[in-house]
Amino acid sequence: MRPLMTIILSAAVFMAALPSFAVSIVPQPVSIRENRSVVRLPRTLTFYGQTRALKNLADVWGDSYGMIAGVRTGNEKKADVKLYIDDAMEAEEYGLEVSVENGVVIRGGSPAGVWWGMQSLAQILLQSDGGDGRPFTVPGLTVQDRPHFGYRSGMLDCCRHFFTVDEVKKFIDILALHKLNTFHWHLTDDQGWRIEIKKYPLLTEIGSVRKETVVGRHGSNVYDGTPYGEGCFYSQKQIREIVKYASDRYITIIPEIEMPGHAEAALASYQWLGCKGEGYEVWPSWGVNEEIFCVGKESTFEFLEDVLDEVCDLFPGEYIHIGGDEVPYVRWKECPDCQARMKAEGITDVAYLQGYLLKRIENHLNAKGRHIIGWDEILDAGVTPTATVMSWRGPSGGIRAAKQGNHVVMVPNTYFYLDYYQTSDPKKNGEPLAIGGYVPLSKSWSFDPYDQLSEDEKQYITGVQANLWTEYIATFDHAQQMILPRYCALSEVAWCEDRTDLDDFRERVKSAMLPMYDRLGLNYAKYGFYE
Ligand code: ACM
Ligand code: ZN
Repeated sequence: MRPLMTIILSAAVFMAALPSFAVSIVPQPVSIRENRSVVRLPRTLTFYGQTRALKNLADVWGDSYGMIAGVRTGNEKKADVKLYIDDAMEAEEYGLEVSVENGVVIRGGSPAGVWWGMQSLAQILLQSDGGDGRPFTVPGLTVQDRPHFGYRSGMLDCCRHFFTVDEVKKFIDILALHKLNTFHWHLTDDQGWRIEIKKYPLLTEIGSVRKETVVGRHGSNVYDGTPYGEGCFYSQKQIREIVKYASDRYITIIPEIEMPGHAEAALASYQWLGCKGEGYEVWPSWGVNEEIFCVGKESTFEFLEDVLDEVCDLFPGEYIHIGGDEVPYVRWKECPDCQARMKAEGITDVAYLQGYLLKRIENHLNAKGRHIIGWDEILDAGVTPTATVMSWRGPSGGIRAAKQGNHVVMVPNTYFYLDYYQTSDPKKNGEPLAIGGYVPLSKSWSFDPYDQLSEDEKQYITGVQANLWTEYIATFDHAQQMILPRYCALSEVAWCEDRTDLDDFRERVKSAMLPMYDRLGLNYAKYGFYE
């Protein structure tokens, strides 16, 4: 007994004598080493940026984290934080060093890499804050880090419920905070068309407003009798502003224009877009809608290509998402134009009519130097080898796609649908009404993007994403508590190939991220953390 007690006691005394830190970072970096030095940093940090882009990052960081530390720019010698490009690194890789000699030095393979390093710096500073206006006391340390996946994304549905420009910008800030580099923006659906298209003004005049909304769970047949969506769309000017805002944070936006389903708001605006040519309204209900674009008529293609041309002018990124999910074919089976198209093209299975649309649209976008992404239903519609498949009905579509050589983004509903409940007993925990399901923090964190894939097939998984569908999410406050803290799990799956210690992950989230949410005034779920 005695010798053991002595060892424990002396260890405790020894540890107490050291500056005790153990900084937590989410996602877990490739390596993090602390030494015994302590570096004091003032509450207003002077930044030096080696290039213009890096200087700009200091301002952007100040806008995001001004409540943690003030920012000014200064010369290299005197700066507290120095930002450099290191050509030997991969683009998104970074190294972060805190030392008595040099203060904070962040090097990245590109400005994006430096930017991700600056997110880690924010976490470190928050944990080194003694409060009361005292300087930060930061442990000397070295961090090396690089993301496992190049595609790391959050989707926000702005159709079922609309979020303002400021809220979308805050969503982008939240992506950056979690070192996610892609924003999948769901802009068109049955219940609302939210992107201004100059050539078709009725899309936002008529298509943005539904006359009422179903109350409670869908199928309730109770409606609120209140119009929703007047003025709820993004003008092209606002979209350009948001694209720039995202780009300043090294986040690419992928706009989604749904086709051929989830389209009734467009049909309501221009009735000739549907097979019946009349009787459409912006849908007041949730679920799967039978009213879809008519692909028998050439005028539909003219419309879709015009819309996509304006979309391409607004969004400079490589990918355009063209939807493709949940398409009932009942109208196509009855429509003389669609039937004539099938005959003319030698198509015998109506599902392949969707493949016909997909190919034509893909060709149109390829000619403009763009590539398409579609939901995993496109696998059954005659997918092209060059389309990226977004696997949402569990991971199986993604596995199938990777095995046949299509690129894949994994967003399985069973792990990354953040409109699902976070606890096993939502009533007891006071969770607001959700669409269903059960995806606690630990479930998201446990996702293995490479499950069932060979070494060779792994290369087709380009990344991971979480979706936030908003049928049951009417406010941005609510949206935040659905994605936070589950974005920590998404981020860790996206950055870390190997994840083994769930308890350690939770402790890091508690030390680094929950206090960050508090400091930044973000709303996060207070339940489900230990499920
Ligand atoms: C989807 O959730 N319908 C892609
Ligand atoms: Zn038709």
